[in-house]
Amino acid sequence: MDTNDDSLAERRGQHWWDLRRKLQQVMLNPASGANFLYVQDRVVEDFLDHLEAVKDKDGYVENIQTELFSLSLEVLGEICYGTRLNSFQNGIPEVRSALKTTFDCLNESLRGIPTFLLFRTPMYQRFEDATKTLQTFYTQNFESCLQRSKESSEFKNIIPNLLLNHKNISLKELCSTISSLFTAGTESTTNTLSFALYHLASHPEKQEKLWHEINRFVPEFPTAKQSELVKPPYLTACVKESFRMVYPTLAGPHRILDRDINISGYCIPKGVHVVCQNALMCRMEEYFENADDYVPERWLRRHNPPSAKFSHGETVDMRPFVVLPFGHGLRSCIGRRFAEQQIYLVIAKMLQRYKLVYDGEEILVKEKIFTAPDRPIRLKLVPR
Ligand code: HEM
Repeated sequence: MDTNDDSLAERRGQHWWDLRRKLQQVMLNPASGANFLYVQDRVVEDFLDHLEAVKDKDGYVENIQTELFSLSLEVLGEICYGTRLNSFQNGIPEVRSALKTTFDCLNESLRGIPTFLLFRTPMYQRFEDATKTLQTFYTQNFESCLQRSKESSEFKNIIPNLLLNHKNISLKELCSTISSLFTAGTESTTNTLSFALYHLASHPEKQEKLWHEINRFVPEFPTAKQSELVKPPYLTACVKESFRMVYPTLAGPHRILDRDINISGYCIPKGVHVVCQNALMCRMEEYFENADDYVPERWLRRHNPPSAKFSHGETVDMRPFVVLPFGHGLRSCIGRRFAEQQIYLVIAKMLQRYKLVYDGEEILVKEKIFTAPDRPIRLKLVPR
């Protein structure tokens, strides 16, 4: 089966909406969210056991990003194919390496003159080879998953079956769509979690406050028996603040206009590519006091009483269109529910088990499609 380039992320216009409509009924549906939560919870437990095994005698994990990448692969393997990929045991080295090459090439393609559009540059060839490896992996797993689900009802809740049972979708569409979940969902969640843990590890007083909050929520949180994850407000605030400090994508939402529009007196013609600079806005004093400081409290209602207009739950959205890590509108991130659950689960479970310590040099960011740490984050895990 050729999975080439008909995936959600590559489509445009009506062709895109035809697929998006079907997929979002599964990906953004609370019932599937509950199912994902169950799977994520199980894999996160395995992840914690894995951390125990890889940390050295002083409690250091050399590169938390590598371990979080394995976690993302493992969870996606479960919900996309109903299988464990054994990435904690380095089970699929060629897939990891092909995904890494894909991201490296995509990042490289944004810089300099795009000669790869004219001829097959070495970068283009590397990209093509990596894509072939990934296609083989996606196709084999997809076919084997379809086969197994014919033989057993155990697989009824994984994404291919949820889509096939309810929606009019072709196998080719489905296979390529699932492959795009791996591309869009691994590096993004890994990097976000790496920075969120780094921010907590380097702000011990905030981490302690969060730990107390999480303990107050136990035993209800986090648990696999829930249909929806409880989101303690300070945890939500810490994650949001981490997104503000390190914006997860190179730019904010960007769109090619399908008609002329007027924004604050500027006429922008149809066809122009408009890019919102949210990463920049997130660090502007105009929007956030002490914008360079990590202050999760700024997102709590009692801290910001006048802004009740934009509030929801117990946290408050002071600037609803400044921090938009998952984009905005119809084309916003389809994996958002899934990603948020994973982020909250990992942080809460890690903090229940360990005090996180970071004693290295300040981590800076590398500007990439998904913003990355400029070096490995070496975290020390001190058992609670
Ligand atoms: C912290 C993690 C994540 C971040 C920060 C993130 C961010 C984004 C952003 C900014 C967009 C574009 C939105 C727009 O243009 O308005 C997007 C699209 C997308 N994301 Fe995510 N994402 C994350 C996790 C995930 C996960 C886990 C998955 C899959 C399981 C996923 C699948 C997708 C897909 C398929 C699209 C394309 C949607 C479309 O074109 O309709 N993302 N994501």
